[in-house]
Amino acid sequence: MMMVIERLTTLHYPAIKQIVLSEQQNKFSANGEQFLSALEPSDNAYVIKADELIIGFFKIDTQFNSRYDFCKPASLGLRSFTIDPIHQGKGFGKQSVRFLLQQLPKLYSNHDCIYLTVNCKNPAAHHCYNQAGFIDTNELYQGGSAGPQHIMYAQLSNL
Ligand SMILES: CC(C)(COP(=O)(O)OP(=O)(O)OC[C@H]1O[C@@H](n2cnc3c(N)ncnc32)[C@H](O)[C@@H]1OP(=O)(O)O)[C@@H](O)C(=O)NCCC(=O)NCCS
Repeated sequence: MMMVIERLTTLHYPAIKQIVLSEQQNKFSANGEQFLSALEPSDNAYVIKADELIIGFFKIDTQFNSRYDFCKPASLGLRSFTIDPIHQGKGFGKQSVRFLLQQLPKLYSNHDCIYLTVNCKNPAAHHCYNQAGFIDTNELYQGGSAGPQHIMYAQLSNL
């Protein structure tokens, strides 16, 4: 299977808009439509493709470390990481996170580290990130709209 991450363009919009989460999962991440409408200039949005098929999306928040006290300097934030429900549970989440951790050092050579927060009631995502190389800081972020979140990070190494 060939996996790629591509910067989001308007050509991707129709496929992204078809990614719709259950009400339960929508507490933890955005639907495609919401993802597109919430993008800010400091966000770099990406689509995840497996064998040319769009299976999900995420964004890199380049201002994450100025928004959250828990970040080290020169760090990025991973947000809205979502696998299309029709493609969940097949290992794509884990493979995508592994793949993006491999690719990010090339794309963001001035950054050392990447953070994310994951809701304490979202064990599937926590497990996925953990399996793919993110480390739990064992600190909680309390500011989320859907309850406490684990703070996780990964080193971005060019080595
Ligand atoms: C979280 C998400 C990205 C995982 O993607 P996925 O493709 O379904 O995950 P994978 O198939 O790669 O599974 C990853 C691991 O999680 C495990 N897992 C799946 N559901 C689980 C659950 N309810 N509880 C615990 N572990 C679970 C899988 O067994 C697998 O572990 P393993 O490799 O040790 O067997 C996907 O469910 C999703 O998009 N959820 C909605 C949006 C969201 O919550 N995003 C995260 C925001 S922080």
